[in-house]
Amino acid sequence: MTHSQIDSIIEQNGGKGSAILSILQDLQAKEKYLPKEALEYIGEKLHIPLNKIYRIATFYRAFSLSPRGKHEVCVCMGTACHVRGAQRIVDQIKLALDIRPGETTKDKNFTLDTVNCLGVCAAGPVVAIDGQYFGKLSPAKVDGTLKKFRSDKKKGGDE
Ligand code: FES
Repeated sequence: MTHSQIDSIIEQNGGKGSAILSILQDLQAKEKYLPKEALEYIGEKLHIPLNKIYRIATFYRAFSLSPRGKHEVCVCMGTACHVRGAQRIVDQIKLALDIRPGETTKDKNFTLDTVNCLGVCAAGPVVAIDGQYFGKLSPAKVDGTLKKFRSDKKKGGDE
């Protein structure tokens, strides 16, 4: 992201340090994470100490300090999903993507996260991919579900 792009985010938010939260939200929305260089630039420009910006960035779960994948895979680990086998789902996804929760695949296609409830407990175990819910999932269905989001990368493979 260029300095002029960051400048326009700052301007759109009134150009003041008091709007730091909205500025970070806009940066996150645009880049899908908060690049270190951008935070340094914002800190300099608005005279906000970098450690204060990092405190905000690490306090809110909506912010990420590392690059996110193109697709966000979010496994519900809440009680209702847990008793219906959420741990086996997350284990299968870890195996399929070769990452752990909080990590992004090397090809930047997927980021894996867990949450405590997605609000559709009766459909557990549930996984949300890019906001699309997949309920009553089983380990056997995991690969097929992920495949729907891999298609742009793996054309010409099996099937
Ligand atoms: S516990 Fe999984 S959706 Fe509520």
